[in-house]
Amino acid sequence: MLLKQWPLSLRVLGVHFAALPASLAAMHIAGYFGLTTGLLQFVLVEGAVAAGLSRWIQLPHWWQAINLLFLPALWLAIQAHIEPAWYLAGFILLLLTSLGALTSRVPLYLSSERAVREVARHIPEGKPVRVVDLGCGLGGLLAGLVEVRPEAELHGIDAAPLPWLFSRLRLGRRAQIRFGNLWSEDLSGYDVVYAYLSPEPMPELWAKVRREMRPGSLFISNTFSVPDTRPDEVVELHDLSHARLLLWQIR
Ligand SMILES: C[S@@+](CC[C@H](N)C(=O)[O-])C[C@H]1O[C@@H](n2cnc3c(N)ncnc32)[C@H](O)[C@@H]1O
Repeated sequence: MLLKQWPLSLRVLGVHFAALPASLAAMHIAGYFGLTTGLLQFVLVEGAVAAGLSRWIQLPHWWQAINLLFLPALWLAIQAHIEPAWYLAGFILLLLTSLGALTSRVPLYLSSERAVREVARHIPEGKPVRVVDLGCGLGGLLAGLVEVRPEAELHGIDAAPLPWLFSRLRLGRRAQIRFGNLWSEDLSGYDVVYAYLSPEPMPELWAKVRREMRPGSLFISNTFSVPDTRPDEVVELHDLSHARLLLWQIR
């Protein structure tokens, strides 16, 4: 695939670096033929060129759409005369809620109640168990488990400041919530490891699971599979996001 070895962020930016001069040149030629060449026309042409280039270098579909709309949306925002402080506030909020998206390409979205019920059903009974939610977000999974499996020792870790603080306040002493990177977490002490991340970190996470988790423990991934390894069980959740739990018994 074209430029596939480049990081995605560079490919996305590269598209605009190419589209901007190309669109300026197109405007120049259009002006020569007496066509209107205002800022609006420029951003529309740039959007079209950027979308075409994105398609050509086979960026994912959503990036083609984002690149199509990026400059026109910027133009609209300028027309709306929004106070610059709002942009800064939005950026800071995004950073505080989604820091993990920068390092692991994992944004914040939440497990459904059905996921909580199914995870609870798979936690072994009749013995002390330690459970960790890697990237615990707003702590919804752990808060649900507290209700139905109060005997379990629950842990959560998150790299984004606001979700971490929220789940910490939400769970208090009922779970141990740490601020940090899931890659630094030693998985060998857990009986059940739960992750609801994204496709991106799954190969590396699976390697970590195989390295660190003990035989007899259980790895559960919400929705995202791991390369070349079938789960021992798949549970369809029939929730709004058509999620499913993939479960691996570690041997
Ligand atoms: C899809 S959310 C899942 C939230 C929660 N586990 C749930 O099921 O409701 C993923 C979470 O992982 C966190 N995250 C992403 N990368 C991380 C990392 N490297 N270390 C710790 N947390 C991370 C994000 O901040 C986000 O809150």
